[in-house]
Amino acid sequence: MPRGLILGIETSCDETAAAVVDRGARTLSSVVASQIATHARYGGVVPELASREHLRAIVPVVRAALAEAGVTLADLDAIAVTSGPGLAGALLVGITYAKALAYANNLPLIAVNHLEGHIHAVLLQERESARESDRESQRECAQSASAPPDAPSLALVVSGGHTHLFLARPANGIWSYTLIGRTVDDAAGEAFDKVAKLLGLGYPGGPWIDALAKFGNPRAVPFSFAQIKTKAHLGGKPAPTKAAKTAPIARLDPRFLFSFSGIKTAVLRYVELHGLRDEAKARASRLFPVAPSFSEFSALARKKGAPGLDFETWDSTHLNPSSAAAPSSSESASSDSERVGDHGPEPPLHPPQSREEALALCPQPTLDLIASFQHAVIGDLMKKTFAAAEAQHVTRILVTGGVAANSELRARFTAEAAQRGLQIAFPTLALSTDNAAMIAAAAWPRFLSQDFAKPDLTADPSLALS
Ligand code: KG4
Ligand code: ZN
Repeated sequence: MPRGLILGIETSCDETAAAVVDRGARTLSSVVASQIATHARYGGVVPELASREHLRAIVPVVRAALAEAGVTLADLDAIAVTSGPGLAGALLVGITYAKALAYANNLPLIAVNHLEGHIHAVLLQERESARESDRESQRECAQSASAPPDAPSLALVVSGGHTHLFLARPANGIWSYTLIGRTVDDAAGEAFDKVAKLLGLGYPGGPWIDALAKFGNPRAVPFSFAQIKTKAHLGGKPAPTKAAKTAPIARLDPRFLFSFSGIKTAVLRYVELHGLRDEAKARASRLFPVAPSFSEFSALARKKGAPGLDFETWDSTHLNPSSAAAPSSSESASSDSERVGDHGPEPPLHPPQSREEALALCPQPTLDLIASFQHAVIGDLMKKTFAAAEAQHVTRILVTGGVAANSELRARFTAEAAQRGLQIAFPTLALSTDNAAMIAAAAWPRFLSQDFAKPDLTADPSLALS
């Protein structure tokens, strides 16, 4: 019987991550190299820069994960890698490296869907809790383990690239997924990021909005979500957006479809109508004095060129527990995760900013706008998730992905689930955002059923999970 050690590799977007997980239940190491400092200066992920940063980080990150776990490649039973959905060039870096490692070490390779990884982040967390010996963890575990082992769960995967509802069902250890709902345009995290950018806050926007929303009135601006009419709206075709590509919508119940592009436009209109644009610009230039705009990017990229692949000079001194652009509030998601910071030769264009600095630059009406935006987005996520849970007769809800780190989301989903007598589970904050432990955990059932990737495995940027 193999020991069950799987090395997971994740490079689907802007985090280079590697982790060693034992039998899908015990994390021996989880290393995440965040590219936030690289992309923050452009207000969003620049795919070419993401691929370049993955190339620079992949070898040292994998080495760090093996070293931290106290294992060598010879101790592993398999290598798992994210094969999609995500950015094509970014995915290819992880896949190519994982393939080479697997081939050279005669190990099986397991392809994992990134969305399935996010779902397994919750399951991994539950198994980790089950092993904790202190009483509190035992109680939490007992709470979430009370559903029969093969009972289906409703999983809300809500991140910067995805807002999907799946019915997730285990049968003899093998998980299957049915798509119940999803966004027809932007993902919820994308709306957080775009609204934060519009308001002159940092990237990624979720942690900034989360931190500042606590100081505003969530009912000050009455944002609303219209019922989506799929067929009339899109003629039954997939919407031409990044977030909507991963599954067709024509046969989904419109009650479980999301749309977050409208609220982004509503915030923009509010900003213009209330003359908040100059205030946002002034805030951005105070918080990020030298950040170039997106339009300046190509000239900048041409001027700087790609730096060399300095694997050998990269060492543990590049480990950085927090990201450069996220607020340094103790509640922020990124402060909880182990991250490898900006490790390139270019220093970040701006120093880390604190929640207090941003707060001082936000008048009360702006804080009210931020709180109202967050409240409305979470209200919409709740309404549709709980309606889907009722329609599917499930008693357990899993909420995962970067936006699942949001403090208001956790509090409101938890309270609503308690009121309805439903179980609810979230990953830890570190497992909510992209990481490789979730990829290694999702690979374990595939390892047991010998579901290995073929040698011609390649990146699938629109890979669906169903
Ligand atoms: O799962 P993730 O790391 O990457 C994707 O698969 O997209 O999610 C990143 C997204 C970003 O849009 C970020 O703004 C959002 O998660 N996010 C949050 C919070 N922390 C991260 N959104 C709301 N509140 C947060 N605390
Ligand atoms: Zn993700």
